[in-house]
Amino acid sequence: MIPIKNPDEIQKMRKACKVAANVLDRLCKEVKPGVTTYDLDQICKGLIAEYGAVSACYNYPNGRLRYPCHVCISTNEEVVHGIADIRHTLQEGDITSLDVSLVLNGFVGDNTRTVRVGEVSEKTEMLLQVTEQSLYLGIAQARAGNRVGDISAAIQRHVEANGFSIVREFVGHGVGRSMHEEPQIPNYGHPRTGPVLKPGMTLAIEPMVNMGKPKIAFADDGWTAYAKDRLPSAHYEHTVLVTENEPEILTLPEN
Ligand code: MF3
Ligand code: CO
Repeated sequence: MIPIKNPDEIQKMRKACKVAANVLDRLCKEVKPGVTTYDLDQICKGLIAEYGAVSACYNYPNGRLRYPCHVCISTNEEVVHGIADIRHTLQEGDITSLDVSLVLNGFVGDNTRTVRVGEVSEKTEMLLQVTEQSLYLGIAQARAGNRVGDISAAIQRHVEANGFSIVREFVGHGVGRSMHEEPQIPNYGHPRTGPVLKPGMTLAIEPMVNMGKPKIAFADDGWTAYAKDRLPSAHYEHTVLVTENEPEILTLPEN
């Protein structure tokens, strides 16, 4: 069952997502050579509190583990769910994905950007641009009457046409009262397949794209997923509302 949000719930989703977007936008401005991922996690903790929200990833369960950070920070070959570390200083040329998910008044907003640390290589710049473009191509398919597979296929086509790889192990998702609701939204698949989209659905669309091969592995911390070939990986995400007309991107920051 895919939840359809009523007008009141949609208003609350708009508010939670606006805050998630503002937090992410302000956090991105803190990324520079010399900052540690621990610093960024602490800054994010403060920003989320400033808006009266609560991190949705902090303490998130995975078996007997609980996610220990307020924002998922995944650098270079790390794909998702990286762990902040006081010994991890970001360097010129790195990329780092900041995945901010938070709860405000019982509703979740979820969004991600991959940030350049100073200047990055040309190939890395391509990876970031293609991944972000694939997100917007996916969002353009989030229309009533389309199917989940239309989103998936649009993302996959663009990524692979540019010679990059779709990560298969993680997918986008419905989002609302909980961070992960139905439907799952793979970043690969076939048009005209999967659940039909309806107005009032709120979806987190989030391509994760590897520069090299798609295969991932997990670090000893039990959380961090990284590209097995250790080449860079990018991740962009918006929470989107399906309407009678154009999709509404809920995670746009204030300015
Ligand atoms: N925000 C992530 C998503 O888009 C989930 C992070 S939850 C974690 O699905 F705690 F497991 F990291
Ligand atoms: Co998400």
